Amino acid sequence: MGTLFKGGTLVTASEMVQADVLVEGEVITLIGKDISKRGHEVVNCKGKYLMPGGIDVHTHLDLPFGGTYSNDDFDTGHKAAAFGGTTMHIDFVIQPKGGTLHDGLRTWREKAKPAQIDYGFHMAVTDLREDVLEEIPSMAKEGITSLKLFMAYKNVFQVDDTTLFRAMKQAAANGMIVMVHAENGDVVQELITDHIAAGKLDPIYHYDTRPPEVEGEATNRAVVMAGLAGCSLYVVHMTCQESVDALRRGRALGYPVMGETCVQYFHITRDKHLGAKGFEGAKYVCSPPVRNDEHHAILWQAVRDGTLQVVSTDHCDFWYEGGVGPWQEWSKKHNGGNWVEYEKQDPSYRRPGKELGKGNFAKIPNGLPAIEDRMMVVWQLGVNSGKISPMRFVELNCTNPAKIFGMYPRKGTISVGADADIVVWDPKAKKTLSAKTQHMRCDYNLFEGMKITGMPVVVYQRGNKLVEGDQWFGHNGGGQYIARSTHAPVI
Ligand code: URP
Ligand code: ZN
Ligand code: ZN
Repeated sequence: MGTLFKGGTLVTASEMVQADVLVEGEVITLIGKDISKRGHEVVNCKGKYLMPGGIDVHTHLDLPFGGTYSNDDFDTGHKAAAFGGTTMHIDFVIQPKGGTLHDGLRTWREKAKPAQIDYGFHMAVTDLREDVLEEIPSMAKEGITSLKLFMAYKNVFQVDDTTLFRAMKQAAANGMIVMVHAENGDVVQELITDHIAAGKLDPIYHYDTRPPEVEGEATNRAVVMAGLAGCSLYVVHMTCQESVDALRRGRALGYPVMGETCVQYFHITRDKHLGAKGFEGAKYVCSPPVRNDEHHAILWQAVRDGTLQVVSTDHCDFWYEGGVGPWQEWSKKHNGGNWVEYEKQDPSYRRPGKELGKGNFAKIPNGLPAIEDRMMVVWQLGVNSGKISPMRFVELNCTNPAKIFGMYPRKGTISVGADADIVVWDPKAKKTLSAKTQHMRCDYNLFEGMKITGMPVVVYQRGNKLVEGDQWFGHNGGGQYIARSTHAPVI
């Protein structure tokens, strides 16, 4: 007996057709017209779209960053993702300074134990010693075929150009792809120092210390280096005209370079959100910073003309008001206690969050909640406005992520033999996004009050139901690690 998705419109990156889809076990076994119901459990898809499960290739669950940890982990973040139609994500393992890549991998494997949806890992290289350079090829055997290097966050994750270029050469030699966070971290650090010295401490100054030029310069540098190294490059979280221009030029020169933007960069603005009264702007602090409408339009154009291939989230959420709970009292009694220890005693305790940067924007933990809302917001802003078709929507959110990161056609499409990660999408269903109803572990929602038409109503992963309406059917351990292959296509 299988599960038969009946009467819906199948949407892939290349077509929209009326078809039934039969799932047996964990995979899709038949696609066709009027498949017999006999012996199968039927999911009525009349009036609905059938799409592949969303893949978010840029997330940071339980990331130690900015003096705290991001809130959502491989339990809560997974559930939130699935309620938004995302059935797989790729998270970033961070190589510990002085440690090996495998040290980092061990830590992230531990974090991922409660997994409820499928996941993979990128490897963020922070300390490229000779032994680490030699360790890189072994990552492919672990199913990790993408390296991430940060060109910003000086004295934290940032690497220099020699390191980046060496990593690119090694990646190219082993069929791997390099991802970069492209901002000139040295210039950013100088600007931060200047602003603090001038008493400019509010959240809005986060923007002024990370102008579009620093993103464009770093993107251009990475693109040129990738061209020289013959290395596939994927520029993460692109936000502005300057970086899009740099990527477009590299692609016109025939370099193997690609890029993503994130859903927040289509909507959240410097003026209204980051520049909100008081400390409110801290909710929107991420790097690179959110920009104004003129850049939003540039990003839509880049998504439409193929300069950008993917929309992800960079999900990395922090409480707006964190540190809530009697932990300081506890700390006094337990000599040497700190919030991490306290959290083990009281799991309802809120770890520190954005408030760490009250009085100094440079101390606000960088990152935003978006894993749950990505597909609904891209549908609302992109498909409902006619900017992109449902097929391009699938390509950006599902298919291209799978192709670029070595998982296609097992993931990212609906075809015979693929994993049965299926989203039943109701283009007429309505919802208002809100922190009150979201599943993300966060006390605010970026898109609070946004009215959505079109959302997932049933979500399956490898043939198992995860979501139906408001109900959750997943379980811890239900998500699988997905090993990815090398030599993925450049698109
Ligand atoms: O602000 C951000 N983007 N936080 C997460 C870390 C990163 O740079 O991707
Ligand atoms: Zn980044
Ligand atoms: Zn990130």
